[in-house]
Amino acid sequence: MKKIRIGQSGVSASQIALGVMRINRLDRKAAADLIAAAYQAGINFFDSADIYGAGRSSMIFGQALQDTGIDRDKIFLQSKGGIILKDGQIDGDGLKGQRYDFSKGHLISTVETELSRLQTDHLDFFLLHRPDTLMRPEEVAEAFSQLEASGKVLHFGVSNFSPYDVDLIQQAVSQKLEVNQLQFGLGHADLIAENIQLNISKSPSFDNHVTAFDVLAYSRLHHMTIQAWSPFQSGFFAGAIVDNPQLPELNAELDKLADKYQVGKNAVASAWIAYHPANIQVILGSMTASRIEDAANIDKVKLTNQEWYDLYLAAGYPLP
Ligand SMILES: NC(=O)c1ccc[n+]([C@@H]2O[C@H](COP(=O)([O-])OP(=O)(O)OC[C@H]3O[C@@H](n4cnc5c(N)ncnc54)[C@H](OP(=O)(O)O)[C@@H]3O)[C@@H](O)[C@H]2O)c1
Repeated sequence: MKKIRIGQSGVSASQIALGVMRINRLDRKAAADLIAAAYQAGINFFDSADIYGAGRSSMIFGQALQDTGIDRDKIFLQSKGGIILKDGQIDGDGLKGQRYDFSKGHLISTVETELSRLQTDHLDFFLLHRPDTLMRPEEVAEAFSQLEASGKVLHFGVSNFSPYDVDLIQQAVSQKLEVNQLQFGLGHADLIAENIQLNISKSPSFDNHVTAFDVLAYSRLHHMTIQAWSPFQSGFFAGAIVDNPQLPELNAELDKLADKYQVGKNAVASAWIAYHPANIQVILGSMTASRIEDAANIDKVKLTNQEWYDLYLAAGYPLP
């Protein structure tokens, strides 16, 4: 599978990555089979977070990874921290936060806990999960420096950060922020739609009160890799787009292109994200090997610009 550079870290990883948020639903054997299938399909980058499954997702992934026998040095492991759950509470697919915490002590202990769950001595990437409005950038800088000096984290990044919040952290830390993980896909393309719709009154196709203006251009200018989370979700965890009866036009377009390129619809939907020149990595969340294997076929989908826009329009986004 095609590899992409992750920021300016020097890491070159598979453009499709596997997010393991939902792996806590699998037993150890099923998790190992899934990881092995993803790796076989060319995926060598795995994303977790301390809160997934209230810690169980990283733990099961760590155990299952050992069972696969995959060489740790052949893959990249990423985790995220900074959200504190209320008593480990899980609410369906969404996790309820009690507060955000970017204190030095919390960030360092989060990484140490994740290393032990994942059964590794280092994270390739560690991200701040969501912007903590109480963040003190100098404290984050101390945490990052200590984590880097101890060899526990090789590279750093953020998730769900606006350009100004990226700047706020970047001016304090000595490490380059390489990644911004953001929700993006055909079911949630506001990152693009908001710029295309610049200065036009709110479109009926999206109702987002938080503007994402310029995150894409900012990330390109600063050589940050955008990682697209929930690439198949419609809206915020409102169900997958593929085969969704509420999205007939989008599915007709996906079907047409899947036929043309002799792949499944997961490959076309993933290729739509990968085609954008902003250097986007797709963080898949499916726990079904056949869907992951299909999505991993992005190299077979040679979209034209027109096909890319056809999918965008079929997803319900307007083009003024
Ligand atoms: N940074 C953040 O704030 C943030 C937030 C959320 C998630 N994430 C990351 O993003 C990753 C992916 O998130 P996600 O799981 O919501 O992503 P997703 O890939 O958009 O959705 C996967 C879910 O859709 C279901 N699905 C149904 N039909 C599908 C189809 N045809 N193709 C693919 N999936 C289908 C999957 O079910 P099956 O498992 O049964 O296939 C699975 O439950 C997470 O694992 C996590 O690493 C980050």
